Amino acid sequence: MEPQALTNMQMRDVETIVHPYTNLHAHRSVGPHVLEKGERIYVHDDQGRRLIEAMSGLWCAGLGYSDKELIDAAVEQLHRLPYYHLFGGKSFEPAIELAEKLKEKFPTPMARVFFASSGSEANDTQVKLAWYFNNAHGRPEKKKIIGRVKGYHGVTIVAASLTGLPNNHRDFDLPVDRIHHTSTPHYWRGAEPGETELEFSARLAQELEDLILHEGPDTVAAFIAEPIMGAGGVIIPPKGYFEAIQPILSKYDIRLIDDEVICGFGRTGAWFGAETFGMAPQSASFAKQLTGAYVPLSAVAVDQSMADALDAESEKIGIFGHGYTYGGHPLGCAVGVKALEIYETRKIPERVARLAPRFAEHLTRLAEHPLVGEGRSSGLVGALELAPDKSGKTMFNPPMKVGPKMQAEMLARGVIVRAIGDVIAFCPPMIIEEDEIDAMFEPVESALDATAHWAKAEGLL
Ligand SMILES: Cc1ncc(COP(=O)(O)O)c(C=O)c1O
Repeated sequence: MEPQALTNMQMRDVETIVHPYTNLHAHRSVGPHVLEKGERIYVHDDQGRRLIEAMSGLWCAGLGYSDKELIDAAVEQLHRLPYYHLFGGKSFEPAIELAEKLKEKFPTPMARVFFASSGSEANDTQVKLAWYFNNAHGRPEKKKIIGRVKGYHGVTIVAASLTGLPNNHRDFDLPVDRIHHTSTPHYWRGAEPGETELEFSARLAQELEDLILHEGPDTVAAFIAEPIMGAGGVIIPPKGYFEAIQPILSKYDIRLIDDEVICGFGRTGAWFGAETFGMAPQSASFAKQLTGAYVPLSAVAVDQSMADALDAESEKIGIFGHGYTYGGHPLGCAVGVKALEIYETRKIPERVARLAPRFAEHLTRLAEHPLVGEGRSSGLVGALELAPDKSGKTMFNPPMKVGPKMQAEMLARGVIVRAIGDVIAFCPPMIIEEDEIDAMFEPVESALDATAHWAKAEGLL
């Protein structure tokens, strides 16, 4: 295909913006895809096309793109108190109310909530708190954090280190020390022949215990996990995974940090992924759907033992020396309060649970296609993993070409999906209707056919 000349808007973009998660070299000739507006599950681009946003942006606009109640809550707060902070003991009701609501809704007892602006900041905070906690307890050696290969926890220096994806480390001189990674709980890819899901979970738990023993339990502070790994490729834990992992963490007094940044607020068909997958963490990170993504806000909820340690340590030092100018911004908190009210009154988690079988049916059917290795989902998040066959043991060579081609074929058919390497992710706004789920999946088969045809011509199949 002939490269098309860039529009004026595209030229202005390529001359000005460093785009995250973009091949910056290719971007200069391809140009950006410019979006102008959105409503419900749709966004409109500057070419006048209406597209189904099958990724809720970045797994975050769970209430869609035009929720009047969220907009009104934002405007009202802007009129009342457009900015304040929580430093030095200052406060305001939306922050207090949101923290109360998070404590009420989270399935395990949480004592306090710390606010930040992004998921990365929340997870950076988690690590700092784990270090602070162990200093408060007189255990200065107990500082290592274990994440997982393919886990995603953000991009600030420590959050990127927790992340277990090569492109977040490569040439950034990461990960920093004291961060380790254990295996991905992906049964289809990782199981040995004949191994059941429960056996696979037990093996991964044993591997984690071996790593802890190798490092020395007295040096390991915390284990961080998303209930479902999102950006690593929508990897859903196998049966018994967290049930097998958690006793090991308790045995060695290692805290479990639950990264709910994608799974929180209904995505899996329950309020939190922790409920769906049987996690009982000592702390949790929230962002994205916390405000329906209308305003940046994140939060860290901590249990009583952490709250006590924070009290004690800050009494010793004289101050809890951590906080962000915009952490707990009143606008974010007001919109967060409204979002949580909407999740409750519109019964969004229940709605997701009701729609999940329809969503899963499509993925199961599409997994029959020769270009699909595995289809998987939980609630309203799912994926088609493209692969040369269904064995779980083969990859395209080279990888990361077929997925982007499929993403482009879907866009050409009016649906925005996300290629994570060769995994095609779906995470639509949770307000999607049943017939819209059908419409979202309708073009997938023909896009798969076109991608397979191209892959054969390119010698990738
Ligand atoms: C599970 C998880 N944690 C943390 C983050 C980082 O959030 P942010 O991009 O807001 O820093 C993300 C972002 O996708 C995420 O998916």
